[in-house]
Amino acid sequence: MLYLNGSFMPAAQATISALDRGCLFGDGVYEVIPVYSRHPFRLEEHIARLAASLASIGLANPYAPEHWQSLVRQAIALQDYEDQSVYLHVTRGGNGERDFPFPDDVAPTVLINPSRLVMPSAEQKARGVSAISHADFRWLRCDIKSLNLLPTVLLREAARQADCAECVMFRDGMLSEGAASNIFVVRQGVIACPPKNHLILPGITYDLVIELARTHGLALEIRPISEAEVRSADELWMTSSTKEVLAIVKLDGQPVGSGAVGPLARRMDGLYQDFKH
Ligand code: PDD
Repeated sequence: MLYLNGSFMPAAQATISALDRGCLFGDGVYEVIPVYSRHPFRLEEHIARLAASLASIGLANPYAPEHWQSLVRQAIALQDYEDQSVYLHVTRGGNGERDFPFPDDVAPTVLINPSRLVMPSAEQKARGVSAISHADFRWLRCDIKSLNLLPTVLLREAARQADCAECVMFRDGMLSEGAASNIFVVRQGVIACPPKNHLILPGITYDLVIELARTHGLALEIRPISEAEVRSADELWMTSSTKEVLAIVKLDGQPVGSGAVGPLARRMDGLYQDFKH
């Protein structure tokens, strides 16, 4: 069961116009919320980021935060499995025409679609994962969680073909983020990540990792990170709502640090798991 434009219905009955601007232009934004034992994790933060994404593209938020929260909880209750990944999607709708500027008086399309949460496997957690790297060829508003995901599709497919879990991106010699994750680096016992700006998505997991590092007195620097620092790091982590904190132990075929999951990755994953429960 999913939610589309005001009602809950079986997925097979949910249809959207072929001329929806989400379909024609990727004119919309989205969120992915992890749900553990039917409890949405960091729901308020995800709804707040959705509001920020909508504001950034000049699309009026169709619902108040409380209504979003209620709809997400109703959608969760309708599934027959406990751990979920709830996909929220809002587009500028459509009026049957393919015209770039915003249409007048068109209702947005709102979709809430829970699916089973696919978490990293026990082996990926224990051994870490491999990543490739690539130039960050996305646009300059990566802070918006936009439906325009062609770069992500191409980069993640390149990663898959290389038998890798993620693609780490660099722009002008500096670390930006993963194709669908934020990236943290550990060097000489200090955790570091790039600052939030228009070049990266302000990750909900990124914020939590920073919060946990601060609460537990771990050394942390938020600053621009060079490609050379990434390539000579002791540890590299990817963070996202569906991957949590996952160690990258090989980058472009080269071991990261010792080539095994590092002590701070284990520590942070432990703090994250404790926080979740
Ligand atoms: N992606 N950066 C990018 C480009 C992302 O697409 C994501 C998440 C993140 C991590 O953000 P968060 O911690 O809030 O999940 C960073 C989601 C999971 C996706 O597109 O499926």
